[in-house]
Amino acid sequence: MSASSSKLSASRGLSILPALFRTSVGQKLLTALTGVALVGFIVMHLLGNLTLLAPDAGPFNLYAHKLDSLGPLKILAEVGLVALFGLHILNGILLKLDHKRARPVSYGYAPKSKGGPSYSNASSRNMIVSGSILLFFLILHIVQFRFGPSLSEGYTTLLDGGVEARDLHRLIVETFSNPAMVAIYVGTTLFLGSHVRHGFWSMFQSLGLMKQSRSRALYAAGLVVGLVLAVGFLALPIVLYFRSQGV
Ligand code: HEM
Repeated sequence: MSASSSKLSASRGLSILPALFRTSVGQKLLTALTGVALVGFIVMHLLGNLTLLAPDAGPFNLYAHKLDSLGPLKILAEVGLVALFGLHILNGILLKLDHKRARPVSYGYAPKSKGGPSYSNASSRNMIVSGSILLFFLILHIVQFRFGPSLSEGYTTLLDGGVEARDLHRLIVETFSNPAMVAIYVGTTLFLGSHVRHGFWSMFQSLGLMKQSRSRALYAAGLVVGLVLAVGFLALPIVLYFRSQGV
């Protein structure tokens, strides 16, 4: 660890964090690790949501009901998720503040990296912008679906075997019959792809796993992961919108 990177950084005041995570190296590490865990959640979320593509509501409502019936375990996972998002956002902001402090005047252009190709691009320069858009989206998204209308508001369905469950499928179909909502979801998932694209590559650097010989391949892999997530998520509102129009 170099002297400059190990100096206590902007998070000096956050004494609840272990000493390592109050250094800029520790912050990078924590941002990378929480990022990996969040991408893990997002991949699982996408896989579960793909059941929305089934011709009827059964598979998705059954999946959502199975998650609900985990009870306290689901709540524990949600608390963990909030902590992950919180740490990831906090560390991202602290890192940005550290960079600003180290270089108060912006270059105003994408600097070329020495000794190898430059991987500076719109995704890498706008991590705070794409991250902030995702945060606003998440607040809307969770209010809309997690805390949206439920059994008491008539969103009820009978699963196979006669079990009464929340009709989350109906709520999602209604949401995506609105073109404005489709536009918000499609736009946000493009930012998600952009954020993950750079985050993926940057994670290897933060974890000390980057080698010059691998950087081109990892950069391409980041693009593929970002694209798969973006296309996977944006396909859902688009397909559901066209279905709602009888196409
Ligand atoms: C077409 C896209 C999406 C659909 C249809 C969708 C659907 C849902 C639904 C139905 C819930 C509520 C689950 C429940 O109440 O048990 C939910 C929760 C959530 N979604 Fe999404 N989602 C989408 C995209 C995203 C994206 C892109 C992200 C992340 C960037 C995301 C992150 C979350 C989070 C963090 C929760 C809260 C998890 C929980 O409390 O159980 N979602 N989503």
